[in-house]
Amino acid sequence: MNYEMSPMQPFGLMLRPAGGAVDVRELPIAELREHVRRHRLLALRGFGSFAGAEDFADYCEGWGEVSLWPFGKVLELVEHEAPEDHIFDNKYVPLHWDGMYRKQVPEFQVFHCVSAPAVAQGGRTTFSDTAGALERAAPDLRSLWSRATGVYRRKMEFYDSKTIAPVVTAHPVRGFPVIRYNEPPAADAAGFVNRPDLEFVGVEPNELGEFHRSLHEALYAPQNLYAHAWQDGDVVVTDNYTLLHGREGFVSGAPRHLRRVHVLGDPPLDNPHLVAYE
Ligand SMILES: [Fe+2]
Repeated sequence: MNYEMSPMQPFGLMLRPAGGAVDVRELPIAELREHVRRHRLLALRGFGSFAGAEDFADYCEGWGEVSLWPFGKVLELVEHEAPEDHIFDNKYVPLHWDGMYRKQVPEFQVFHCVSAPAVAQGGRTTFSDTAGALERAAPDLRSLWSRATGVYRRKMEFYDSKTIAPVVTAHPVRGFPVIRYNEPPAADAAGFVNRPDLEFVGVEPNELGEFHRSLHEALYAPQNLYAHAWQDGDVVVTDNYTLLHGREGFVSGAPRHLRRVHVLGDPPLDNPHLVAYE
């Protein structure tokens, strides 16, 4: 094997070259895919990687069918000067799952870090292991969360959608319970650009506070949350069916540049929660 493995805390697996120069494209994707399914998140660090976005997209085709967006295959995640959406701001991004507003939900997110901010500048990507959060939850909280359904509306450059999803649902392939939740932006998130319209039904109005508080506490608990501090050249692949993810805020102007591709499942998963899409 041309790589070394080390488990990450509280979940995830990191691979590094076992010695000498190894390009990420030399690693067998069938093996890597199994690592992602088992560990939820795979970080490849210290390997040679891609010269540009096209090289990166070509690599991702090896993982499966790449989801096509209006902008193409590769999202350039970089701060915009006057962002029309929080994705392109330097502020924190609440937990969510990718594809929640799209016709198909990708199984894998693949990230490539073109340029990383300094650790002190922030900008870690946050990942919450929802299967673990449910396993570790007290039965009364789990039953509260299980009664709730999220009704989400979001309009941005690439879609105008409505999605209705039970907060606790089954992993679409493996059947174990997972959480699908778009966390409302924190009350003190001043200047949060393009707030989605979120509503939660199925729990009593007087339970809503406890619902969000307890779910937030569980999703961000140290046993369930991994925050990835990027280094130049990192490739990270995640199980988007099980994890939720977001972003910590970062210093405006920090050199944070990630590329992201969505790889569909085999067969692709038609979004079971999408009720309107334009
Ligand atoms: Fe996302």
